[in-house]
Amino acid sequence: MATTLHFNTSPPFTLPTPKAPTPTLPHLRLRPPPPRRLSLARSHKVVIEHEGKTTELEVEPDETILSKALDSGMDVPHDCKLGVCMTCPARLIGGTVDQSEGMLSDDVVERGYALLCVSYPRSDCRIQTIPEEELLSMQLATAND
Ligand code: FES
Repeated sequence: MATTLHFNTSPPFTLPTPKAPTPTLPHLRLRPPPPRRLSLARSHKVVIEHEGKTTELEVEPDETILSKALDSGMDVPHDCKLGVCMTCPARLIGGTVDQSEGMLSDDVVERGYALLCVSYPRSDCRIQTIPEEELLSMQLATAND
């Protein structure tokens, strides 16, 4: 006995036609985010008066004013670069520096004196280098207070 198979014909099979890309409006396009800045801290303008010359430097908040001055070719007195020997004295005429690593007494710092090797700018500054003797005499005077 012969068996007959019957197949139902399915609906015609058609491949979907690819859709044309949807047009996008320019203001709706996604853009990559802007590159991130590695540091939010900005440099400060530091004006140094030294031996009758005025020099303007851009100093990063994490570099000392002495380091930047030396890198810029200034011949500023220095020795230890640790805030100990006091051969890099200066008077802060304007602005703010962080010199918490230095050895100056608080009284001397409050009177506007600074050691350039441990001074990090915290604002735009104006600084005048001074003779070492001036700082030493100020240190002695305030030590006797
Ligand atoms: S270089 Fe010694 S205190 Fe600044």
